Amino acid sequence: MSTTTLNQKEIIDKINQLRKEKNAILLAHYYQRGEIQDIADVVGDSLELARKAQQTDADIIVFAGVRFMAETAKILNPDKKVLHPNPESGCPMADMATYEGVKKLKEQHPDAAVVAYVNTNADVKTLADVIVTSRNAVKVVKALPEKKIIFVPDQFLGGFIAKQVPEKEFILWKGFCPPHFNLSKDQLLQLKNQYPDAKIAVHPECNTDTVEIADFVGSTSQIIEYATTCDADTVIIGTEVGLKHWLEKVNPNKKYIFPQTADYCGTVHCCDMKKNTLDKILYVLETEDNEIILPENIMNEARKPLERMLQIV
Ligand code: 13P
Ligand code: SF4
Repeated sequence: MSTTTLNQKEIIDKINQLRKEKNAILLAHYYQRGEIQDIADVVGDSLELARKAQQTDADIIVFAGVRFMAETAKILNPDKKVLHPNPESGCPMADMATYEGVKKLKEQHPDAAVVAYVNTNADVKTLADVIVTSRNAVKVVKALPEKKIIFVPDQFLGGFIAKQVPEKEFILWKGFCPPHFNLSKDQLLQLKNQYPDAKIAVHPECNTDTVEIADFVGSTSQIIEYATTCDADTVIIGTEVGLKHWLEKVNPNKKYIFPQTADYCGTVHCCDMKKNTLDKILYVLETEDNEIILPENIMNEARKPLERMLQIV
């Protein structure tokens, strides 16, 4: 039966049946559509999903996230089949760091450690000494023996780390996340005026001015922990709107305000994350199409900095 003739419940029933039959697991990032979060085996931030991908005994991993996340799952599980529901779901920030550019920078600073945000393509990961996520970046960078750090590709996460590790020198790649970049400090201050008792929690991918006025800065999971446990009843959230679904599910007693931005969507909205749909998840489970395939040498080299990160934190 074609998926276009099925209603949502029928699509979900088929997904459930196929994941059982094929011993498949569905991993989803918090920025995924609500209906995907609701049926995922695990919903998490990029670190939690990488860990889960490393630990699972499923034969197939369906990764509802952007491409670098599905690639990370494959690199950590070269013998497993990793299916990406929509191969067009990439990360514009990851694409801002090129292999050639990072290699050149590394050659110019042979005494520096290359620290790559997990939001990088697999070829760039091969150049890294260690990978970080927004959850563990400060801890990992502090643990490195090198005093000089090349950080790619997010200049804002890099700047946030640099502030907390003043004893090291940082060379920052000038990448950024377009949806987070469009969230201005003024948008948050306007909301704070409207809700004076509210707390502000933001992702470190936001620009420096925005981060500076926040009560809390952390990864998607850390924002959820903070928002649901802090003493304020209203929390202004500076990250992608997909988080609203999860927050309202885990703690419906609070009010979560997602600011308006200059972005054409009007909110912090990652179009790429939203390219995965239930239809596409069913499609890959049925056909085993859209498998993540990477050259073995790239996987072997990219695995080293990833495993180093997972050993540190
Ligand atoms: P997290 O590590 O917080 O899940 O962030 C991933 C991401 O792409 C944020 O834009
Ligand atoms: Fe990339 Fe930003 Fe989308 Fe995260 S939110 S996947 S960093 S574009």
